[in-house]
Amino acid sequence: MNVAVIGMQFGDEGKGKIVDYLASDFDIIARYCGGSNAGHTVVIENKKFKLHLVPSGALRGKIGVLGNGMVIDLQVLREELRELKDAGFEPKIIISSRAHVVTPLHKEMEALEEKVRNIGTTRRGIGPAYETKVKRVGIRIIDLFNQDALTKKLRLISTLWHLDKSNEEIENIAKELSSLGKEFKENVKDTELWLNQAISAGKSVLFEGAQGTMLDVDFGTYPFVTSSNTNSLGLFPGLGIPPKYLDKVIGVAKAYTTRVGEGPFPTEIHGELADMLRNKGNEYGATTGRPRRIGWLDLPVLRYSKLINGIEEIAITKIDVLQNLREIQVGVKYSCKGESFEYPPPFLESCKPVYESLDGWSSMDDEEFQRYLRFIEENISVKIKIVSYGAEREKTMRL
Ligand code: GDP
Ligand code: IMO
Ligand code: MG
Repeated sequence: MNVAVIGMQFGDEGKGKIVDYLASDFDIIARYCGGSNAGHTVVIENKKFKLHLVPSGALRGKIGVLGNGMVIDLQVLREELRELKDAGFEPKIIISSRAHVVTPLHKEMEALEEKVRNIGTTRRGIGPAYETKVKRVGIRIIDLFNQDALTKKLRLISTLWHLDKSNEEIENIAKELSSLGKEFKENVKDTELWLNQAISAGKSVLFEGAQGTMLDVDFGTYPFVTSSNTNSLGLFPGLGIPPKYLDKVIGVAKAYTTRVGEGPFPTEIHGELADMLRNKGNEYGATTGRPRRIGWLDLPVLRYSKLINGIEEIAITKIDVLQNLREIQVGVKYSCKGESFEYPPPFLESCKPVYESLDGWSSMDDEEFQRYLRFIEENISVKIKIVSYGAEREKTMRL
């Protein structure tokens, strides 16, 4: 059985925790989108690991695949593996020969872009790496093994984006990237072949989504999105496997909503309550440390996410953070330009949420807690099968 775990909101739903929780049932954990913009937190024996590129289940001894749909910063990967090694973990990873490489040029491009328009990106060079990929001047992992050709490719990027780099600067970048390539040579494979063969041979795969559905380049709050297909549809081109190999999609939803960076957020709240939830939920970006924006649960977002991803069950996280509130608001639909909407329209910035108010709970044994879960299930017609009430693996309940 091959299962995808997908973020249903704006990222940071707790995918890392849920992937880690489920990982023992799988042989392989595969990432297919994004790069080090992701920050997936896994807590093992009271130690917190923030993973950016290493698939979360790889800490459980599973093989982690970094698919061709990713954009990979090998320097970040090297650092991440070093930190894990210091903590006693040596994850087995394989990297797609066709994945694109984030270089210092991409980070420079992004810094220039963000000066003239503010998306609030993670500044990890993600957008520019996808830009060069689609413009057909990108650098793939396989390109790191020919330093002369690599130098030419870097020079072309520098010319096209007017980065004004000297020959020496380009050569130094090429040298550093080639040396990183050599370091990882043993990990590089044609992962699409490897993965298809593994699945045919009966191995099971957990596909680890990164970011969230509302950050998807096609279905998110464009242009305030990331630059890849983060939804379940993205995993086919992002790994080179056919749709028949996906058996189930689990959506991860936080019990409220958070967002980092700019862009529309209809159920956003400000003030004391938002500050209290941010502190209680430790809502600070795992990658950039930025305070996350806070809001109530947004059911049109979950409804849309269920539809686009084909979500069959939900893992709801951070339910503990809402505990002890007297009253909880839930956005059930939107009012946009005088009309009512059940799903986020492509002009979400014009929408105001319509709220329903529910009673809070002080213990998970309370009826009000069950009512919150049933309310979500009934509104979006999908069952909640996993409830997470703490960052640790043990604080998880299967329904
Ligand atoms: P991801 O990007 O979707 O993997 O999520 P992040 O790791 O960026 O953010 C989720 C944060 O919430 C992390 O700090 C987790 O350790 C933490 N977390 C996950 N599940 C729970 C939960 O049920 N309760 C609480 N209090 N924290 C959780
Ligand atoms: P995980 O996998 C939350 C957001 C950024 C910014 C927008 C574009 O941990 O859920 P990018 O650097 O990708 O070009 O930034 O997307 N963003 C995330 N927000 N969680 C993430 O990943 C994110 N990855 C990107 O904050 O608004
Ligand atoms: Mg995160």
